[in-house]
Order: sequence, then C-alpha cells, then structure tokens
Amino acid sequence: MKRKLYLETFGCQMNVLDSELVLGQLHAHGYESTDDRDHADVIIYNTCSVREHAEQKVWSRLGELRQRKLDEPHLVIGVIGCMAERDGTKLFQRHPHVDVLCGPGELDKLTTLVHNAALANASALEPNARTDDLGNGNRPAATPASYATRQVALMGATSRRSSTLAAAQDTLEMLDLSRAISPGDDLSQSYVRITRGCNKFCTYCVVPYTRGPEVHRPPQNIIDEVKKLTDAGAVEVTLLGQTINHYAYDHGDGRKTTFADLLYLIHEAVTDLPRLRFVTSFPRDFTDLALQAMRDCERICRYLHVPAQHGSDRILKLMNRGYTTGHYVDFTDRARAYMPDISIASDFIVGFPTETEDEFVATKELIKRCRFKNSFIFKYSPRPGTVAIDRFVDDVSDEDKRRRNNELLAVQQVVSEQLNSEMVGKVVEVMIEGESKLVSRQAAKKAYPTSNVELGWAKHAPSGDDVRLPPVTTTQLVGRTRGDQVVCFDGELSLKGQLLDVKITRAKNLTLFGEQVEALSLA
Ligand code: 5AD
Ligand code: SF4
Repeated sequence: MKRKLYLETFGCQMNVLDSELVLGQLHAHGYESTDDRDHADVIIYNTCSVREHAEQKVWSRLGELRQRKLDEPHLVIGVIGCMAERDGTKLFQRHPHVDVLCGPGELDKLTTLVHNAALANASALEPNARTDDLGNGNRPAATPASYATRQVALMGATSRRSSTLAAAQDTLEMLDLSRAISPGDDLSQSYVRITRGCNKFCTYCVVPYTRGPEVHRPPQNIIDEVKKLTDAGAVEVTLLGQTINHYAYDHGDGRKTTFADLLYLIHEAVTDLPRLRFVTSFPRDFTDLALQAMRDCERICRYLHVPAQHGSDRILKLMNRGYTTGHYVDFTDRARAYMPDISIASDFIVGFPTETEDEFVATKELIKRCRFKNSFIFKYSPRPGTVAIDRFVDDVSDEDKRRRNNELLAVQQVVSEQLNSEMVGKVVEVMIEGESKLVSRQAAKKAYPTSNVELGWAKHAPSGDDVRLPPVTTTQLVGRTRGDQVVCFDGELSLKGQLLDVKITRAKNLTLFGEQVEALSLA
C-alpha cells in the first residue's frame, strides 16, 4: 500500500516550486499525497524564515503534532526549507518529535531521508531493537523521534554549497531536471528556476544563509524544461530567481549567457508558450539589453517585480542594498521609456532600525513617484544570523511599524486605484486562474450537499441558509492580465487555465471587473 504524504508549503514561489519537485520525487518512490494530515504517514512542512511570523506558524503546527507522534511513533515528521537550514539541529531541542530536517540546498536527498526515517522508526519499535529500551523485550515507551533515527541534510553556514561547482555537476540540479509531469497535473501556470541562492546579503535578510550562494542553471536545461512544460500544457511560465536579472551562465569556454540572452533564447526556442514572466528582479544592474529583450519579445509579459525596500538613501545604505533612490527612479523611468505600458510592483520594509518619520515619508513619496501597480509591505522583523540584528537595535515600536504599514498601504491604494481606473474601457488578455475567492467563500458557506467544490454558484443566489440552489457552472472567475492586474468576470469554470479577452468595465483599487469580449459580441 502506498504511504500517505501530507505536505504544506509556506513562503515564496521558490518554495512552491521546491515542494512540487520533491512531491514528484516522493510520488515516484511510492508516496501518495493526501490533504488529510490526521491520516498521513509522513508530514512535511516546507518552511520560510524571512519573517518571524512565518516561522511561528510552523512552530504551532509542530506543537500540534507532539501528542500524535507519541501515539503513533511510526509517523515521519519532516521540516524542510529555510527554517530547517536556519535553525539546524537546534530545532530538535524545541521539537524532539521531528524526524527529518532538510535545507533548501539539499532537497535532492529528501526522498532518501524520509525513507530512512520510516525504516528507522519502524525498527526502533521492534522488541529489543534498542539498547536503551526497557530491557524486557517490551515495546519501549513511545519516545519522540529518538536520536539515532533522525535524518538530517543541511548545507551548513560554513560550506556554502556549490560555490565551486558548476550547476550542471551539482546534484541539486538533478532535482530540477527530474521534474515529473503526470497526466492530470495542472501545469497552466508553471515555475522554472533559473538561479538558486543569493549573494546580496541585504542586512535584514536570511536568504543568503538559508539558500546559499547564487548558482545559475545551464541555459539549455532551462530551455528544455520550459519546452517540456509547454508541450504538457503550460500557458504561462514564470522564471524564478532571488535576483533573477543577475543571471549569467559561464559555459567555461569563454562563452557567457546573460539574462537578456536567456530571454531571447527561451522566446525563440519555445514559440508555443503564450506567456513568459520572471521574478524577482534586483534594482541594480538591470541592463538596457534585458529591457530591450522584454520590449522585443511579444510573449514576455511586461511586468516587473523589483523590490525597492525603502525611499531613504540612508536606510538603503544600512540595508546594504547597493543603490540609491535616484538609481531606482532612473531604472523605472528607463523601463517605462522602453515599454510605456509596463507594470511595476515593489516590496517595502517599514520600521527598519533607526527609521525616522521623515525617512518613512520618503518611502511614501517613492511609491507615488514610481506609480507601482502594487507593493508588498512588511514590518521589519529582526532575524537571527543576519547583520542587522547584530548591528542595529530594533528601535521602531511595533505600534509605529503597524501605523507606517497601514499608511503606506493607503498611499499605494490611491496609486493602484488610479492605475486601475485608467484600464476601464480597455480590452485585456486574461489568464484564468479559477473561481474568485469571494465566490469560493460563499460556496463554502452554503455547501450544497451533492455539489463538489469545483462547482460555482449562481451569482444572484437568494440569501438564507435554507435555500438550496442547484450547482451551476457559471461563476465569478478570477485571472490576471499580462501586467499582473487581477481581473474578475463571470464565466464558465471550465475556462480555467485559458487565455481570454475581457473588456474592463469597472475598477477598484485591487481588482478590475469586466466582461468576456466573446460573450459581449454574442449579446
Ligand atoms: N523583515 C521584514 N521583511 C523582510 N523581507 C525580507 N527580510 C525581511 C525582514 N527581516 C521582505 C523584503 C523582501 C520580501 C521577500 O520580504 O521586502 O523583498
Ligand atoms: Fe534577501 Fe536581498 Fe537576496 Fe533579496 S536580494 S533574497 S532581500 S539578500
């Protein structure tokens, strides 16, 4: 019988991709995914360490499993990803019932670790299996994952894995190369990694420690993967890297493939792919050649996610970002000079140590000046192991952080609203992602007994819990434009994963609303 596997993913797109790849490997080795954690034989958390809040969620998940592990010692519990790497074996002190620890740079070993843990747990439960058991042949008290059974693969802060290896020789490359595509997989929106790790060492950030040094994948491997996904039905492929525009592959024979070269190569090699995107860009060193590649290749989406992080040069310096706001603004102006319709998103941190009110106001000004499509705004979270936690006192109160977060969101909202209102009346291509969250929530509340969750609900359903409506297939759909704007419109759920033209009729700050062009012409 197949062993049941429950995997939950926290954090960024890189983690989503890692989870997909390790799932593929585990499935190939006899594990079967389940959404039911209570009946899983193996429970894995793919974790994020970027902010404390993300870690707390995992701590509480692990806490919930403590009793279950005592009752079912054969259960395998794994922590993978950034928290595993950052915390290391210290994690066992807080949660001794964890069996497997595997950092993001070692995920190619996960299947073996899980397998070994399952075998070790089973043999530890056999009578007389342990020298420290009761000595009378009885099953030892079900101790949490006991010492010898633990399986650990971490890169370790000292050996920044792969720094001397070409990615092609790196066994981790095998994880990406092994990508398994099974019939029925929804590949309409797929991720492909082009670079692993980060060399930037922004003072607040754990990523260079948890994901190791920048390693660029060979261009042909990337192209092959994009082709494979497209042949299997991908409509949109997003290339991933922490500082993606720094991609540069040295072939070892004097040839170099730059990020701009790679964009042209993929675009020319995979002509059947309707949409190619990439995230996340670093503001410095974004070459004109890369912008020209975006302009020249019609299937590359005109969307950039380029975190500015702050609007004050002093804070940017403390963050070790390596650019000034002047450089940043020049970059966005340059991008818009090539592509006036480009949409640009950013990240910001509020409450970085020593941030003054005036400096915070400078961040507001930057949002207005750069007219971001949207901004992801985070309260500074001191992270153990980073330079910032050692060098600076976390002296902005939580109350100020919260207020600044809200104020920045409000400024961004005005900009987004204005940009969105400019879209009204336009026809845009939308990639349909599924049912809008609003409708899913309503459907979940009303739970029609015989319907299954994929079915939508009549839009103007009378309210009242006693009214049961038959499930219908027309619902409010949600999708994204090439510029990453969210669009809602009514349509058939079977359109999920397809591209459609939608006329925008109404705009809110976060969402555009529209009507299918085909439906309009039929009316
Ligand atoms: N505190 C708050 N936000 C952080 N980010 C990274 N590290 C921290 C931290 N210590 C944010 C940055 C980054 C995004 C992924 O997370 O804005 O771009
Ligand atoms: Fe972290 Fe800076 Fe690297 Fe982004 S560029 S992953 S913020 S160190």
